[in-house]
Amino acid sequence: MRKLSFYHLLDANQIQKSDLDCLIKLAQKYRKQGHKKTSRSGKYRSLVLATLFFEPSTRTRFSFESAICRLGGRLIKMEQGSVSSSIKKGESLSDTGRVMSCYADIIAVRHPKAGSVAEFAKYAHVPVINAGDGSNQHPTQSLVDIYTIFCEKNRLDNLKIGIVGDLKYGRTVHSFMNLMSRCYDNNSFTLISSKELRLDDKKKEYFASFGSKISETDNLKEAIKDLDILYVTRTQQERFDSEEEFERNNNLYQINKEIVNQGKKDLVIMHPLPRITEISEEVDQMPQAKYFAQSNYGVYIRMATLAMMTRNHQ
Ligand code: NCD
Repeated sequence: MRKLSFYHLLDANQIQKSDLDCLIKLAQKYRKQGHKKTSRSGKYRSLVLATLFFEPSTRTRFSFESAICRLGGRLIKMEQGSVSSSIKKGESLSDTGRVMSCYADIIAVRHPKAGSVAEFAKYAHVPVINAGDGSNQHPTQSLVDIYTIFCEKNRLDNLKIGIVGDLKYGRTVHSFMNLMSRCYDNNSFTLISSKELRLDDKKKEYFASFGSKISETDNLKEAIKDLDILYVTRTQQERFDSEEEFERNNNLYQINKEIVNQGKKDLVIMHPLPRITEISEEVDQMPQAKYFAQSNYGVYIRMATLAMMTRNHQ
């Protein structure tokens, strides 16, 4: 197995195209094999994953947990870390990092503060995965997103990608655009949001510096017409300074059947989930809706990520 170019996975910037090629290849192997075969192999039976979550999660935590089980490894976990661990008694994240690395071979951490997982990783002596740090980054969600596009479109270049919703606070958007613009060619982005939730200018300039074309609009109906991918996000209520600011920016876009029918027949609609009101349930039955398939692809790419990041352990 080839070595990845990173030890900890904290930021999408660390991921190279060659890493993506290997991770996708291994995820494909796991997907084709089915789960039962992989868990019987026994190669990972002494591998321990710790999941440390200081923020709510369904897909990220459970797909990591499912991934380690399906690899045949073991799991130790901490939910509601801020009330259930010694952090509640005042222990620092760095001390938690030092100690947890004695108990696990790899650790996935989610925390509400930007940069906190990197701080944790400084003191850990096993690989650490950033499972979301505030509105900053969520690199493994972008692996899920990229693997979904690979499976559904069979290519990662020359795509017209629309991203709608909360582009300011949505960490998945930041990691996804980073990988798509740095590692693949000729992709264009149409960013659809309210003025207040636009992507930060610095990020826009950075992504554009790799040659991606980026345009902005608030008109979803018009924008959807020539897209290959529509990436939908929820308004990140927990990141707003005030309830008024959230209310002003919430519920501005709702993807329904009528809007989807304006787009191409082979449009792929994605969403990292949870979906609140931004996609109506009537869309779920349409062939363009791939967001639940996306959650499923997440298990295989996370199996590949755990396997490759712990390569030295085996
Ligand atoms: C996302 C997250 O936590 O950033 N969810 C996920 O990991 N699947 C998106 C969100 O919460 O809106």
